[in-house]
Amino acid sequence: MSKDNTRAYNKKSVADIDVKGKKVLLRCDFNVPVDKETGKIRDEGRIVAALPTINYLLDNGAAVIACSHFGRPKGEFKPEFSLCDVADCLSKHLNRPVKMSKDVIGDDAMTLSQNIKPGEIMLLENTRFHPEEEKNDPEFAKKLASMADIFVSDAFGSVHRAHASTEGVSRFLPAVSGFLLNEELKYIGGAISDPKRPLVAILGGAKVSDKLAVISNLLKIADTVIIGGGMAYTFFKAEGGKIGNSLCEDEQLSSVLKCKAEAKERGVKLLLPVDSVAGAEFSNDVDPVVVDSGAIEDGMMAMDIGPAAIGEFVNEIKDAGTIVWNGPMGVFEFSKFAEGTRCIASAVANSNAISVIGGGDSAAAVRKFGVADKITHISTGGGASLEFMEGKALPGIVCLLDA
Ligand code: 3PG
Repeated sequence: MSKDNTRAYNKKSVADIDVKGKKVLLRCDFNVPVDKETGKIRDEGRIVAALPTINYLLDNGAAVIACSHFGRPKGEFKPEFSLCDVADCLSKHLNRPVKMSKDVIGDDAMTLSQNIKPGEIMLLENTRFHPEEEKNDPEFAKKLASMADIFVSDAFGSVHRAHASTEGVSRFLPAVSGFLLNEELKYIGGAISDPKRPLVAILGGAKVSDKLAVISNLLKIADTVIIGGGMAYTFFKAEGGKIGNSLCEDEQLSSVLKCKAEAKERGVKLLLPVDSVAGAEFSNDVDPVVVDSGAIEDGMMAMDIGPAAIGEFVNEIKDAGTIVWNGPMGVFEFSKFAEGTRCIASAVANSNAISVIGGGDSAAAVRKFGVADKITHISTGGGASLEFMEGKALPGIVCLLDA
């Protein structure tokens, strides 16, 4: 299943089995972002992404018992973590009723699931209302599984979690992948196990500690690794540069030097932003100044990559065969520090490469800059897509039947 540090999964899909007249427990990732003030769903992307599998199941005579977690209610029933709004949204997209269960494995869930007919769909309440979910408790998994004949996993965003509804149920039911999961396996799996070369990996975001494992794995696979965002400045400091008030994780100085040494040893181009755009404080109300990335004055904070870095990165991106991108180049929420992320988004979109974007922030960036439709694949996974690219075995995929 694994070649070097890549993961090339070959799992049985929902299209490979007969679902007619069957009850299907469908694990989705309906952990959608909500507006902090109104509690309303802010982005329906994960719900829309689940529709192909749901429609396929309903059109092919299955009864669908959908389930998901939502937020982190810590094993208690909390109304603000109810999936009721998700059921309404799903119903709107499917143009048919979605029966919402008041509980997960209680009387309501059991009665609804016993009475559900082919072509109908119901949604269980938030699986994390039970502490047994995150503990991957076998009795809880067995109860969930008892409602159905088949388990279909389409919750790519949660496959890095070995929970009862993502992994445990596969011990009690034949378990296959849904179409969303298939797409993620095809594109992320393809990019890291059999990329069209050169493979250019672009990594950004604030914390280098979050990305060290992925950098380390990509150094074994990629031809070029581009590093931007706040995490770049730990590299500059490690090499004795001055970084002013820019983000830095001092405890990672030796790790980033190891990454640089490994890149050199393996002949991988590791590019850091030669220049940056800095400001006097973390705000959009400051004068942006272009500075050398290793010579940033005290009191100044780098918040974007600079024009020379953009030129160098774009040049690398334009000749790529495959691009994987996770993490923005700067504080793109601030208009004065958005140019780096905007230019990288547009270069990725306009390249002829297979482009795969993971992580909520880079996905938000390509949407914000209006180029999402030119990206080959935008992953629905945050942590899951990172762990996939780290080469880790993902329990929610490993547990599925082999093709
Ligand atoms: C996500 O949003 O990344 C997934 O739904 C997993 O959520 P979790 O980090 O709370 O397990």
